[in-house]
Order: sequence, then structure tokens, then C-alpha cells
Amino acid sequence: MKLKDRVAVITGSASGIGRASALEFAKEGSRVVVADINLSGARETVKQIEQSSGVAVAVEVDVSMPGSVKEMVENTIHAFGHIDVLFNNAAIQVNKTIEDTTFEEWTREIGINLGGVFLCSKLFLPHLRLSRGCIVNMSSVNGFFVEPACAGYCASKGGIIALTKAMAIDHGKDGIRVNCICPGYIDAGLAWGYFEAQVNPAEARKSAGKLHALGRIGRPEEVARLAVFLASNDGSFITGSAIVVSGGFGTGLPPLS
Ligand SMILES: NC(=O)c1ccc[n+]([C@@H]2O[C@H](COP(=O)([O-])OP(=O)(O)OC[C@H]3O[C@@H](n4cnc5c(N)ncnc54)[C@H](O)[C@@H]3O)[C@@H](O)[C@H]2O)c1
Repeated sequence: MKLKDRVAVITGSASGIGRASALEFAKEGSRVVVADINLSGARETVKQIEQSSGVAVAVEVDVSMPGSVKEMVENTIHAFGHIDVLFNNAAIQVNKTIEDTTFEEWTREIGINLGGVFLCSKLFLPHLRLSRGCIVNMSSVNGFFVEPACAGYCASKGGIIALTKAMAIDHGKDGIRVNCICPGYIDAGLAWGYFEAQVNPAEARKSAGKLHALGRIGRPEEVARLAVFLASNDGSFITGSAIVVSGGFGTGLPPLS
């Protein structure tokens, strides 16, 4: 068990990659705080963990709100006494160009995706310093290889890569490692939303696979395994890195067809 007796907080773990990560972390012996704005989904994740004899608690949080994040920190310490791993995974995706994006949509997207990483990291850092713990942030290949009509999302994911490096530099002296994960298309909520926003969603889903060298999109658990690796002692000399798990997305142009 790579994470035996650790305590991990995973935001956005009521569904998709976050839920798959919560299940993998629990399988590796971690106690998990399943933190999400969607409390019923978070409870379902906890139920699935408990069915495999894991230990988890569901916590309702809006990662863009300071008071709500403060409560999540208090609930975590109350439940488990300390924290070893913070996985900042929660995000939304507005599938629009900047011209079509309202100021409210922009503020909300940046507030959750980038602001959430800021707030959760800021409020958990004093506790991570005590445990010499680590932070895993969820970015995307869209942090450096952008796609049409999701401008704010790409900006937020690019920002997370830079913020990851900045935090790694600032907190390395405390033994805190900070890395981010950059997935290609993964069969989960935000990709489904992007497909739905296209003229022909079924066709978009099919052609998305072709953007990856492996000819398919990824599965949530394929990302979750990387998160486990980075959070465990296997990643002990990795910090400030943006690690791609993308089946070769953007490695080269797709074949002509
Ligand atoms: N699916 C993909 O293709 C893909 C690719 C690259 C990166 N990612 C990243 O992976 C992460 C998970 O995406 P997913 O596809 O599993 O999506 P998802 O929609 O299944 O999961 C996102 C979770 O975040 C939660 N959330 C949203 N706003 C919140 C808030 N304000 N506070 C707390 N929780 C909130 C949602 O309730 C949801 O459970 C995101 O950071 C996303 O950017 C996804």
C-alpha cells in the first residue's frame, strides 16, 4: 500500500477523475476527505470506498469561497487530525470564446479553477508544513496546447502550471512537494461537456480519440494512478513538475483522413 495511513483531501471527488482518484487513494491505504460542492455525489464516492473497506468522509465545499474552504480545513482536522496530501482537482469548463463569455462566467471559472487551487493550498499549507506533505494540482494539456472555444478554461489551466512551479519553489524548503497533472481527453464530466458543446457531439467524441497517439481517450483511473504515484514516496524527488498523462495528445498532427 503506497499511501498507508496518509490523509488525503481530494476536491471535486463526487464524480469523474476525482472520484476515481478517491477510490485509488483509499485502495492504497489512504483515508480520504471527499470534498465537493455536490454533497450527494461525494456521499456516493464515500459509499463506494466503504464497500471496499476503505475510510472516507464526505465534505461539502465550494473551493472558490474562503469561508467554505476554511470549514473544509476544520472538518478535515476534526475527522483525521492532520493532512498529508491535498489534491486540487475541482474545476468547471465554460465552452466559449472570450467574446461570448460573460464577465460572470469568466470570474466564476477562474475563481473555481485557479482561485480554488490558491485558496485550498493557502489554508492547508500550515497543516502540510507539519506533515511535510504534498500538493497535486489538476491542470490539463490545455495548459500549453489549447483548443477552440474554451479560452477561460485554457487560461485557468495554464495558470495552474505556473502556480504549481511557484508554490514548489516557495515551499520546497519545508519539504512540501507541489506538482501538477496534465491529462489529455478523459472519459469524464468536463470532456462530456465539451463534446456536447460541439455541433455533432457523437462525432466530436469519436474524433477526439484520433487526437491521441494511442487512438483513444483516457479512463479516469489512468489519471488517478499518476496522482497516487506523485502523492506517494515514489514521487519523493519530483516537485515543480507538470506531468502529462495524455496517450500522446498533441505529440504530432493527427493523420489525414
Ligand atoms: N475530463 C477530461 O477530459 C479532463 C482533461 C484534462 C483535465 N481535466 C481536469 O480533471 C478535473 C476533473 O474533471 P472531470 O472531467 O472529472 O470533471 P467532473 O465534472 O466529473 O468533476 C469535477 C468535479 O468538480 C466539482 N466542482 C465543481 N465546482 C466546484 C466547486 N466550486 N467547489 C467544489 N467542487 C466543485 C464538481 O461537482 C465535480 O464533482 C478538472 O480539474 C479538469 O479540468 C479533465
